[in-house]
Amino acid sequence: MKGIILAGGLGTRLYPLTFATNKHLLPIYDKPMVYYPIETLVKAGIDEVLVVTGGPYAGHFIRVLKNGKELGLKRLAYAYQEGEGGIAEALSLAENFAEGDSVCVILGDNTTDADISKEVKNFKEGAMIFLKEVPDPKRFGVPVFDENKKIVKIEEKPEKPQNNYAVTGLYMYDASVFSKIKNIKPSGRGELEITDVNNLFINEGSLNWSVLEGYWRDAGTFNTLLEAGKFWYEKKNK
Ligand code: G1P
Repeated sequence: MKGIILAGGLGTRLYPLTFATNKHLLPIYDKPMVYYPIETLVKAGIDEVLVVTGGPYAGHFIRVLKNGKELGLKRLAYAYQEGEGGIAEALSLAENFAEGDSVCVILGDNTTDADISKEVKNFKEGAMIFLKEVPDPKRFGVPVFDENKKIVKIEEKPEKPQNNYAVTGLYMYDASVFSKIKNIKPSGRGELEITDVNNLFINEGSLNWSVLEGYWRDAGTFNTLLEAGKFWYEKKNK
């Protein structure tokens, strides 16, 4: 399985912090944000990783990650997303890198201490997503379950979330993800949404889910950036 880190965007929610660098290079305690999802992949045994980035500071990644050896990677590649076409568009740039393998995708601002090696090892086909209970599900993709706890659809940032689960930014897909991305249309915010891709897997009955065990934050807001920093500070200094 190949690893894909999606680390593009302009980080406008974090202006003025992101006026002069990419959001994913801001510090979470003692490391740049993007180290965390890469370490999650390495811990799960994935050592070939593509970082998809974009925006004016994409070049900064090479100075920080270099060739990935210090992070335990055997192969580190970069792709550049032009414009702000969304998470699914960024993922589409990984098609050649994936070489027909399945992929484990992590959003570059997601930090977790969860160990997903078992799920990575057991993954065969379709899609696998990880859920986490949160106090503010409106900010996320939120699953809708049937009576058997099967997900019937995912709603992106719903006004009235059906439950308190967020779809985290960790996903596993088989190679059919790339043809699925070609079949979706931009959303209201003008982006190709990962939620629309997940809904295509749900429609064909091939999406599985699991609850992410451990700490998880999307560190893309001022509050969660600070909270994530505090979590890693406490974890390393106790
Ligand atoms: C994205 C996804 C959303 C997911 C979230 C996790 O939201 O669209 O479904 O729950 O990442 O971090 P965004 O951060 O792009 O608004």
